[in-house]
Amino acid sequence: MLNDLKQQPADALLALIKLHNSDPRADKIDLGVGVYRTGQGDTPVFGAIKAAEAKLVAEQDSKAYLGPEGDMGFVEALMPYIFGKQDPAMGGRIEGMQTPGGTGSLRLALAMVKRAGYNRVIVGKPSWPNHNQICADLGLEVFEFNHAAADGSTDMDALRGALGQAQAGDAILLHGCCHNPTGIDYTNAEWDEIAGLILDSKVLPILDLAYQGLGQGMEEDAYGVRRVLAAVPEALVCYSCDKNFGLYRDRVGALYAMVADPADLTRVMSNGHALARANWSQPPDHGAAAVRLVLADEALTAQWLDEVAEMCERMRQVRATLAAAGKTGGVDLTPIGSQNGMFSIIPFTPEQVQEMRSKHGVYFAASGRIAVAGLTAANIDKFIAAVADVTA
Ligand code: LMR
Repeated sequence: MLNDLKQQPADALLALIKLHNSDPRADKIDLGVGVYRTGQGDTPVFGAIKAAEAKLVAEQDSKAYLGPEGDMGFVEALMPYIFGKQDPAMGGRIEGMQTPGGTGSLRLALAMVKRAGYNRVIVGKPSWPNHNQICADLGLEVFEFNHAAADGSTDMDALRGALGQAQAGDAILLHGCCHNPTGIDYTNAEWDEIAGLILDSKVLPILDLAYQGLGQGMEEDAYGVRRVLAAVPEALVCYSCDKNFGLYRDRVGALYAMVADPADLTRVMSNGHALARANWSQPPDHGAAAVRLVLADEALTAQWLDEVAEMCERMRQVRATLAAAGKTGGVDLTPIGSQNGMFSIIPFTPEQVQEMRSKHGVYFAASGRIAVAGLTAANIDKFIAAVADVTA
């Protein structure tokens, strides 16, 4: 019977890690999976996290189970950053739970949606490939709309059209900030409109906030989530600490549910707890405990915010350098300058993607998505020359 299983392709994004590692060229460039790199090309552990981890080792007196909801101190400490300092629980309407990374949060959110009787998820195209993959695995239909218009802004007409055609039993999955893979985000005015469209269409919003602080800033990047939540009766928010706490492999995330009536919250969240138990029982503790210790300490919080701001600034500088290159070979790099977060798409053909790898040792997704933080003062000129070469 096991022998009947069909061969599955390796995850295309994660496969890039091995592909890049196995290239012997010293001047190869990794613009594949979304990890931040410093100007020296490193992905160090945050200073604030290192300090919190030292505290954790010194102070943690037990590793006994916490329960399917994980570390609620961590879950609650994040809430003012996501939902605003004024009333982070929105009058008792929001509660969360810890999950293994943003992927764990999305998995739970979509499984809850399925349990609640939704059968279709409206998703922009392109999106992070795992969005559609999780929907498919759960038997949720995906209804796609075009995310980016030809002029490089968001395709609001396509979104309006998708919501106009929404049916009972539809949810919509939107990127809160730093759209992955395009870097093309909704403006605040667009979020204002989207909030009303979601309310009118009665679809359930699922907001994926995986890059807070890496677009325009911590507060600015929360605008869309807060705006939608202020308008609608119910929502799910999927949060990742992979990038903005640099905790990638420690798998740190959270799922938040907002309901109309606080009296329903315990019942709704009990579904998240039951699904977690059936999937992974309880989330890994270490990274979330470190985040809790950072957020409980004023000095460590300030240090963490500085570290996030520095990442954001460095990626802005890389974007500015690419944009300054303007028309390069057959592509225009200018739009990258006004896009946000870790990723942008350069419209390479499949052959050009292969040539970038084989001829120049530059690795990025087949979609043409580049992780901008992989570019440094030491390699950006080589990258731009390679783009000019293969697209000429
Ligand atoms: C990415 O898109 O590269 C990141 O979100 C990492 C991942 O898990 O795919």
